[in-house]
Amino acid sequence: MLNQYHYQQEGMGSGEMTNCRKIAVANQKGGVGKTTTTLNLGAALAKAGRKVLVIDGDPQGSLTAWLGFNGAVGGREIGRVLSGMIPFSEAIRETNEDNLWAVPTNHAIVQVEQSLTVSENWERLLKRKMEQSPLSYDYILFDCPAAFSSLLTNYLTASDEVIIPVQTEIMALNSTVKFLEKLAQIRRDLNPSLKICGILPVMYDGRTRHSHEILKKMREAPNLKQYVFSSVIRKNVRLTEAPSRFIPILKASPSSYGSIDYLRLAAELIAQEPGGKPKAENLLKEVPASKLVDDEKILAGVELETEEEEISAELPAMRGIDE
Ligand SMILES: Nc1ncnc2c1ncn2[C@@H]1O[C@H](COP(=O)(O)OP(=O)(O)O)[C@@H](O)[C@H]1O
Ligand SMILES: [Mg+2]
Repeated sequence: MLNQYHYQQEGMGSGEMTNCRKIAVANQKGGVGKTTTTLNLGAALAKAGRKVLVIDGDPQGSLTAWLGFNGAVGGREIGRVLSGMIPFSEAIRETNEDNLWAVPTNHAIVQVEQSLTVSENWERLLKRKMEQSPLSYDYILFDCPAAFSSLLTNYLTASDEVIIPVQTEIMALNSTVKFLEKLAQIRRDLNPSLKICGILPVMYDGRTRHSHEILKKMREAPNLKQYVFSSVIRKNVRLTEAPSRFIPILKASPSSYGSIDYLRLAAELIAQEPGGKPKAENLLKEVPASKLVDDEKILAGVELETEEEEISAELPAMRGIDE
């Protein structure tokens, strides 16, 4: 892929937004790793020195909970921006991670969502609010809701690019094609410059023939292949555990496959920046090549090391703590 990509050079209405990549992490399906990708990709880009803002665009508030903001949002959240009560910049909160900021959500967003469509030009509301605020981030990532709603339309209209996490299973492939059609509609009606940043294979299970086959299909399908990232996110139990600790995987379990795979994805995005290739290589220089996903092996159908092996490899150290 990546031949589709053109780095954002033109201004977005505010001088400081130039070169800021606004990326919606979206898929019409729930439970496919949108929130996991938003947070961990955001944290990996932040580790690489990029200034990153993550926006919890999903009324379910998983990203807000993950960042530990639950119950303490204090009126500074995305719903109050959309309802015109505060400027966008006022909703931005610091997180515990360097270079990472967040806009949380709370339950009030549900009412905002219901009343959104009565205002004129509601599809561009968030885009306008963001343009009115002085922002200086390198990346803004929107954690999108699963349903095709007025909120999702707003995030896709405010974005320049979309990352679509797709599980490596057959049903997911079919719905991805439908989702691409929806994006084409948004591009036609509302946001002609919206690009597919990439389709991200997630929850890849190196032990199963099914995962191999689906990934191979994704990489070969004429209507998908130009979009599929080189990076693959493996199934990794550490990604499931990290939210309960309110920290990104890079901090919770830095040597896990979850960390390595999201770091590689961040490197893939950074390599697309002008002069970004050496920086991307630098980001991965401490990762042993044997721990990176081996695309050749995947395409050849070779079984890969499993997360169980990885966990058992770490068990002695864990036992050491218990003793
Ligand atoms: N690569 C992965 N390996 C294992 N579990 C994952 C992975 N990615 C996500 N998960 C888990 O799958 C569930 C759904 O992920 P989530 O990011 O919340 O999806 P979405 O935001 O699309 O609804 C969560 O429990 C999450 O911890
Ligand atoms: Mg989510």
